[in-house]
Amino acid sequence: MELTVSASDFATLSTDTLIIGQWQLESPESKIEPTVSQLNQLTDKLLNQHLTEQSFTGEFLSTSVLHRPANLAVKSIIIVGLGQPQQFSEPRLRQVAAKATQVAQSLKVKTVVTGLTSQLPSIAPAIASQMITEGILLGNYQFTRYKTSKAAQTKQSTITQVCLNETNTEHHQAIEQGVLKGEAIATAVLNTRDIINEPPSKIKPSHLAKAAQEIASLSKNITATILDEGALKKERYNALLAVAAGSEEKPYLIHLHYKPLGARQTVALVGKGVTFDSGGLGIKPWSAMLNMKADMAGGATVLGIFQALAELEALNMPIPVEVHGVVAATENMISGKAMRPDDIIETRSGKTIEVLHTDAEGRLILADALTYAVEQKPDIILDFATLTGAAIRALGLEYAAVMGNHRAVLDQIEQASRESGEPLWELPLPDSYKKHLESSVADLQNITTNDSSPGAIFGGLFLQEFVNDIPWAHLDIAGPSFLKEDINPIYPKGATGYGILLGLRFLELVKQ
Ligand code: BES
Ligand code: ZN
Ligand code: ZN
Repeated sequence: MELTVSASDFATLSTDTLIIGQWQLESPESKIEPTVSQLNQLTDKLLNQHLTEQSFTGEFLSTSVLHRPANLAVKSIIIVGLGQPQQFSEPRLRQVAAKATQVAQSLKVKTVVTGLTSQLPSIAPAIASQMITEGILLGNYQFTRYKTSKAAQTKQSTITQVCLNETNTEHHQAIEQGVLKGEAIATAVLNTRDIINEPPSKIKPSHLAKAAQEIASLSKNITATILDEGALKKERYNALLAVAAGSEEKPYLIHLHYKPLGARQTVALVGKGVTFDSGGLGIKPWSAMLNMKADMAGGATVLGIFQALAELEALNMPIPVEVHGVVAATENMISGKAMRPDDIIETRSGKTIEVLHTDAEGRLILADALTYAVEQKPDIILDFATLTGAAIRALGLEYAAVMGNHRAVLDQIEQASRESGEPLWELPLPDSYKKHLESSVADLQNITTNDSSPGAIFGGLFLQEFVNDIPWAHLDIAGPSFLKEDINPIYPKGATGYGILLGLRFLELVKQ
């Protein structure tokens, strides 16, 4: 995939396909006006005719293809619905670009030109071109590494030109900058998807540690510290060690630290990095064990955010916030050495946990990872974790659940969610539910056997015990991190990389 910016006239560029947008009609009787009137009059007329024939209303993400338009050299024009102007937003533009790219892919065209950037006066050119670039790259993704047929392997090498129908050099530069920023961010998301989609015998805790070291080597402002089994034992990371005990693979606590010049705020991002969750001795039935390779999605998201931080810095567009990334990486497996139900763990924080269910392992490893994060003395802690099936039952696949101890941080996360287009919904953390955490033999128990206890909230309340009073939010991304159905053109089936766009937007908001 190659992306270029051109200042030529929209209609005179030589290309296989053009992408244009169409606003939604207010009423069925109103006349269809193509949103782009940069084409010649005859083509506009043809388009009008085509859209009327197809009863195309411009509904958000609806599409139509006009083949071989007379009077133009292109083979086809892809028309994509922009929806109603009042509802249009930056994330919607990203989705429009992704959708159009998927149509272009199905037409098997080599070159595509879009004038969307110049079509939307309400969105600044740099932002518009960033969204279009992200949409194209995110929408074009497929995980084909293990397909042996050439046809499945080779993606359409679509060259999309973000066209600028004017000669304003400032605009041109802004659009080019937007493309670079979009490429940097999308590349980080795509790498993250690859790591999550890889089979569990390929991505082990040690691979996450290696990936972190590679990211650190991209920037002089990023350092990686890896605590191996010896260090974890010495420093009493007993909860992480307990979960890892049943696996042949050694656990790692991964710490990335980004310290740019001029940072005034420090944020710690903590990720659950369970590279395979069998459930442990409380083993999952086979169908629930499917896709448990993706139980490291939270950790991969944290690594993805760091990759984007490094790439944005290399483009001279750094986000001026100090960031700690802490990933607890392990497998949850079975052997004679595995953690048992009834075990009691003395966590690094000093608090003890009674293990009632070995499958509630995420909260155990996060207890130690959050303690490590607290020790870095950040202003804010965010954790990303595929923590509970209950979050999926409550909110479905589209929305992450967010919980926290600080109103302003939660408000900022919600703003970042709206602006990034990665949806989430807040669940409460009522003090009155803390009784579910009480164990008869230790400080805390890792599940409750009480049927009326809310699973996702229990997870949040449990983690809250390990953040002291630092402003914190927990994102349960069990739903949106890995999809089995199409819900949004920017997300393919399988790993989505959910949380990177949201996390980066959050960091941009925090810097102010
Ligand atoms: N990794 C799972 C949660 C999960 C489930 C993520 C489905 C993605 C999709 C987690 O470790 C787990 O097993 N949670 C249990 C908790 C229960 C034992 C209290 C669950 O959700 O069933
Ligand atoms: Zn589990
Ligand atoms: Zn898990």
